[in-house]
Amino acid sequence: MRLNSPQMNIISRACMKASRSLIRDFGEIENLQVSSKGPGDFVSSADKRTEKIIIEELQKAHPDYGIITEETGIINKTNKDNRWIIDPIDGTMNFLNGIPQFAISIGYEEKNEIKCGVIFDPIKNEMFYAEKGSGAFLNNSRIRVSKKKKIKDALLVTGGPKHSSKIKEKIFTEFIEVSKNVLSPIRKFGSAALDISYVACGRFDGYWQRELNYWDIAAGIIILKEAGGFVDFFETDNDAPLKKNILASNSNIHKELSDLVTKKDIE
Ligand code: IPD
Ligand code: CA
Ligand code: CA
Repeated sequence: MRLNSPQMNIISRACMKASRSLIRDFGEIENLQVSSKGPGDFVSSADKRTEKIIIEELQKAHPDYGIITEETGIINKTNKDNRWIIDPIDGTMNFLNGIPQFAISIGYEEKNEIKCGVIFDPIKNEMFYAEKGSGAFLNNSRIRVSKKKKIKDALLVTGGPKHSSKIKEKIFTEFIEVSKNVLSPIRKFGSAALDISYVACGRFDGYWQRELNYWDIAAGIIILKEAGGFVDFFETDNDAPLKKNILASNSNIHKELSDLVTKKDIE
C-alpha cells in the first residue's frame, strides 16, 4: 500500500480483515451449490458477517463517525461530516454462483466529498485504492485511465436493469443505442465497484449505469478521479440522494458517451 493517511490505513485494514472470512465463505459456495438447500441463505449471512467485521474495525478507530452500509443502513445519522460508506460484497450474484468477480468496497467521505476509497477483489488479490490528490493505485502500481480517443473503439461496461426496475425498457433501449456506436460488444460483469475500478486502470474505457446505490460506487468515485477519469451523475433525484445514475470514463470519450446515454429521444 502506497498511501497512508489515517483513514486510508483504517479502511484498508478493515478490508483485509473482512476479506479473510469472505475468502473462506467463497470456498464454501461450491459445496452449497450441490446441496438441496442451495447457497441463498448462506450468502446473505456471508454479507452480514463481512459487514460486521468491517463496522467493528472502523468503529474501533472512530466510534463517532457516520456509517452508510448496504446491510445495516445508517449508523450515527447526525454525523454527516465524517462518514464511511460500505458495500461488504459488491457482486453478490457472482459470489452466489461461485463466479470470482466481486469485491469489498469502502469509501470515506468528509463534508459530502469522498476523500479516499478502497475496492478489494479478494480472489484475484487486487486492491484498487486512492486518496484525494495522491493518485490511484492497483496494489503497488500507479493506475491511469485508457487513452482511447473515439467511442467507436471503446470497450464499455454497464449493468442492470434490476428485476424491480420501473424503467427497464428505457435501459434496454439505451443499451441498444450505445451498442450501435461501438465496435466491441458491451460487457456486463456484475460488480459496479469492479466495473469502475477497471475503467480506472484502463481495462475498460467507459462505464455507465442507472439505479445504483451510493455504496456501490462511493469508493470508485475517488479511484476513478485520481486515475485521471471523469465521473458524472445524470438525472439526479434530489429526494433520493443515495440513488445514482453514473457515467464514468476516460476524458476523451466522456462527452460522446454522455450524449449517447442521455439522448433525448430515448423514452
Ligand atoms: C450490485 C452490483 C451490480 C449492479 C447492481 C448492484 P450487489 O450490487 O454492483 O453490478 O448491476 O445494480 O446492486 O447487490 O451485488 O451489492
Ligand atoms: Ca453493491
Ligand atoms: Ca452488496
